[in-house]
Amino acid sequence: MAEFRLPKNSRINQGRHFPAPEGASNVRTFRVYRWDPDSGENPRIDSYDLDLDECGPMVLDAVLKIKNEIDPTLTFRRSCREGICGSCAFNIDGTNTLACTKAIDEVKGDVRIYPLPHMPVIKDLVPDLTHFYAQYASIKPWLRTQSPAPPDKERLQSREDREKVDGLYECILCACCSTSCPSYWWNGERYLGPAVLLQAYRWLVDSRDEATGERLDDLEDPFRLYRCHTIMNCAKTCPKGLNPAKAIAEIKKMMLARRSL
Ligand code: SF4
Ligand code: SF4
Ligand code: FES
Repeated sequence: MAEFRLPKNSRINQGRHFPAPEGASNVRTFRVYRWDPDSGENPRIDSYDLDLDECGPMVLDAVLKIKNEIDPTLTFRRSCREGICGSCAFNIDGTNTLACTKAIDEVKGDVRIYPLPHMPVIKDLVPDLTHFYAQYASIKPWLRTQSPAPPDKERLQSREDREKVDGLYECILCACCSTSCPSYWWNGERYLGPAVLLQAYRWLVDSRDEATGERLDDLEDPFRLYRCHTIMNCAKTCPKGLNPAKAIAEIKKMMLARRSL
């Protein structure tokens, strides 16, 4: 499973410690990465002792409790708290996952919370996903057609064709997979990474889409597609149980089938 790795030359200082309230009997320590790049200071790890009897069950509940009751300077993204929006993706206990669906009980000992690995940090737990989203936009993630839409109904699919996007449409673009992928760590400028390639495959297999050839042309590149070495971190870490490595393998098969025509 993908462990958090610090950038080279990075030094992390021991930060502040916030003890649990007096009388707390069910205490867990949350060790949270803190860094404000604008401050000129090194990153640090702050420790917060929480009374779990006064906290919801998920890691996101703990992070919200820290921000709301102990330290309002802690910065992170979240929205749905239902595993749908993908914004609360952190590296928790060494694994990229969603804080809102990760139970505190699943972690033994101190709960270590870091930003997604190998991404520039804007502040604390907030990575800069600008490049990731630009890569997503580059695959043109929408239905592309030339033929006119039927005048009186939607573009329909058979049940069998609709089932081909199962295991793909559920992706919430949380970036847990791409930021666990060693190939993406080292070649992320040019390699699209598992999340974006899974999304690319989602449109390649959509029976209604009429741009399959162009989509494959766009991926036919030594870096955009072919940096996947089937290391499988992506499938192991996906909090939605999806398998980007399989989607990438299917794209490669489509490429081969096209070449042999
Ligand atoms: S495939 Fe899974 S881990 Fe990757 S972005 Fe989609 S939901 Fe997140
Ligand atoms: S299987 Fe491919 S995309 Fe997934 S982690 Fe490995 S190299 Fe990255
Ligand atoms: S808050 Fe939306 S996925 Fe966690």
